[in-house]
Parts: sequence; structure tokens; C-alpha cells
Amino acid sequence: MGEMAQKIIKLDRGELIRELNVAFAEEWLAYYQYWIGAQVMVGPMRPLIADEFIEHANEELKHAQWLSDRIIQLGGKPVIDFADLQRTAQCKYEAPDKPYVMNLIEQNVVAERCAIARYQKICDMTFGKDYETYRMSAKILKEEIEHEQEIGDFSDDLRAGAELHDNLEK
Ligand SMILES: [Fe+2]
Ligand SMILES: [Fe+2]
Repeated sequence: MGEMAQKIIKLDRGELIRELNVAFAEEWLAYYQYWIGAQVMVGPMRPLIADEFIEHANEELKHAQWLSDRIIQLGGKPVIDFADLQRTAQCKYEAPDKPYVMNLIEQNVVAERCAIARYQKICDMTFGKDYETYRMSAKILKEEIEHEQEIGDFSDDLRAGAELHDNLEK
């Protein structure tokens, strides 16, 4: 048991564990949203975009692992019931029911923006008060910012391609 690890933090432990569990649940939903999106997507650049989705999915799962480790170190318990993941997450799961690549990219951009706000919040909560959670959250924040940029770039490319096509038609 991480007795000293729990003693040194200078903020409400229960509140911190609750927030980390919200993030933990959101990572699982983000993982699944990317993973299932990669399976069903249709449209231009599909193999490239599907690979990127799988790469992001694996990173979201890695974030869930870090959060679970930290929750346990702090004396908490990660969400253990699958049905509670959706109840606990505040960034909502968007099913890829319209599997055109552009729709999937837009849904995942929304999820990434929500994740960025979540880790910015956890960084604000822990800065100067819990160095270890801060370090972990800042590292996840960096990767969520990269995710938003990477899929945003695909979206720009697809849009530029569509505009070029429209102009050639005229
Ligand atoms: Fe993540
Ligand atoms: Fe992400």
C-alpha cells in the first residue's frame, strides 16, 4: 500500500480519485470509439486513417493503464463494472453509426477536445499539490493535443481534396 504516496498529496484524495475515474472511463470509451471506427469506416484514405485510429486507440488504452495505476496508488479503485464506464464518463461515447470517414473524424475530434479539457483540469487541480498525478496528466495532455492535431490534419486533407474536385468540375 502506498501510504506515503497518499500522505504527501495536498488536495482532497476522494475528489482527485473521482476525477481520475472520470478520465479512466473516458479513456475506455475513447479506446472503443477509435477501435470500432477503424473496423467499420468507409471512404477515401481508409487504410491510412484506420491505421491512425488504431494507433490512437492503443494510446488511449495506455492512458487508461496509467490512470488505473495512479488510482490504485492513491488508495482508490478504478471503475470495475463495464456498464459504469458510460455512466462515469462525462465525455460521451459516439457510436460510428454513419461510418463515412469524415463523420468518424469529426466524432473523434470532439472526443479529443473533451479529453484535452479533462487533462487541463486535472493539471490545474494537481499543479504544486500532487506532482506525480500532475506529471502523468501533463504527459497524457501532450498526447491528446497531438491526437487532435493528427486527425484534424486528415480532416483538412479530405476537405481540400473535396474542394479541388468541386473546382475541377466547374
Ligand atoms: Fe487518452
Ligand atoms: Fe486521444
